[in-house]
Amino acid sequence: MTSRRTLFEPFRIKSVEPIRITTREERAEILSRAGWNLFRVRSEEVLIDLFTDSGTGAMSDAQWAALQRGDEAYAGSRSWFRFEERVRELTGFAEILPTHQGRAAERILFSCLGVAGKRVINNTHFDTTRANIESLGGTAIDLAVPEARSPSLDHPFKGNMDLVRLEAALAEAAADRAHVGEIAAVMLTVTNNSGGGQPASLANLRAVSELCRRYRVPFFLDACRFAENAFFIKLRESGQAGRTVESIAQEMFSLAVGATFSAKKDGLANIGGFLGLRDERLAQRCKELLLLTEGFPTYGGLAGRDLEAIAVGLTEIVDENYLHHRIETTRRFGRGLAAAGLPIIEPPGGHAIYIDAGSLLPHIPPRELPGQALACALYLEGGVRSVEIGTLMFGGIDPSTGLERQAPLELLRLALPRRVYTQSHLDYVIEVAGDVAAHRSELSGLRIVEQADSLRHFSARLEPVAGDDSREMFREMPAAVGV
Ligand code: F0G
Repeated sequence: MTSRRTLFEPFRIKSVEPIRITTREERAEILSRAGWNLFRVRSEEVLIDLFTDSGTGAMSDAQWAALQRGDEAYAGSRSWFRFEERVRELTGFAEILPTHQGRAAERILFSCLGVAGKRVINNTHFDTTRANIESLGGTAIDLAVPEARSPSLDHPFKGNMDLVRLEAALAEAAADRAHVGEIAAVMLTVTNNSGGGQPASLANLRAVSELCRRYRVPFFLDACRFAENAFFIKLRESGQAGRTVESIAQEMFSLAVGATFSAKKDGLANIGGFLGLRDERLAQRCKELLLLTEGFPTYGGLAGRDLEAIAVGLTEIVDENYLHHRIETTRRFGRGLAAAGLPIIEPPGGHAIYIDAGSLLPHIPPRELPGQALACALYLEGGVRSVEIGTLMFGGIDPSTGLERQAPLELLRLALPRRVYTQSHLDYVIEVAGDVAAHRSELSGLRIVEQADSLRHFSARLEPVAGDDSREMFREMPAAVGV
């Protein structure tokens, strides 16, 4: 199948959801009403929703059937044991704590590890991970390899941790704990979402694990997209081609002392997550907090039917026909966008394509949010929803300096929900994006008029620097995209 030119979707569609078509004029009204923030737009007002791959996937017939088996007993339900068995088989962790989604696992882990006044090092922290650490008084440090900072550079494992800087930080903390502060944990996000959906290599995972063992710092995985990462290892790392994705994933988990997981990504479920741990004492503390905030340890904020859907999803996700389709879809989407004139983070990642909005729109400075300006243009022109990963998401006031911070890159993410859109949907998005790119000099920036102290991108209200009239912000384009 790999040698054929046509991309083969390894599933038939059994149930469909109609898409409501909107006009450009309607979308201009919607944008203005939503304060130029796509988090405030209703999903029925979106044609192609590439906002996130989280919780937006389509479940299989086997997952829908499994919902019927859901055992909703408060304690010790059959569904819990099925879930626990599959998670243990995959991860090897003795202690599994079910959570309603990934960030609940993060909150519980970092609360119980005690990160106040300490540092957590990651290749790149996802926004909720960073916010959880900071809200507990810790400092989140990103140490991805230098290649991760060059968007156009092609490198097979841009999700790798910078081992030189990691070792220097660990050695410095070990030598002078009192002055430089302790490192509470090291984490590796696989794939590295905020860094472009890029994988980490098995060699890098092994080396990080070894360093952490040597310096006695616990090493965790943020494993949301572990199967996509494992498939990249199989495709790109020498000596790994003959292994199954399941066995690569098992080795990845074996290198860590625990993992946080959002089942909304590679769990192929619409909700759910877990915290997996080896240390029984840490797990005991985490279970006490789980009881307070999520629920009893055999359901942890999930219905029995959710546990069933995740258990099945965690089996389907390592199917290599599925993963081939997934990674190849994303790669072709990336190539199409690049050919249409959009600079993308190279090489295409697993779950999303990231457009380098900073270099597409050099006339819009970071403080005027070029990524968000591009997101609004794609919505206005084609009803496509995407998300800014730049200064709107990562800016705001730095708690340690009190100064406004700027993101290292101004990106726009187009994330692909699993098993939801067809090739022609993605061709449509490429066409819309190409039209926007052709008129890029006419886009103007945005300013924030209202924002929260933390995770401001979720609720901020913005307005175009050029004036609150979308028809002035973006010149009317020819109706080339059909809707
Ligand atoms: N870690 C990573 C790498 C993530 O991408 C996410 C969520 C989380 C943790 C938190 O998981 O949403 O279940 O609480 N990412 C979504 C996204 C929201 O759109 O990338 P959650």
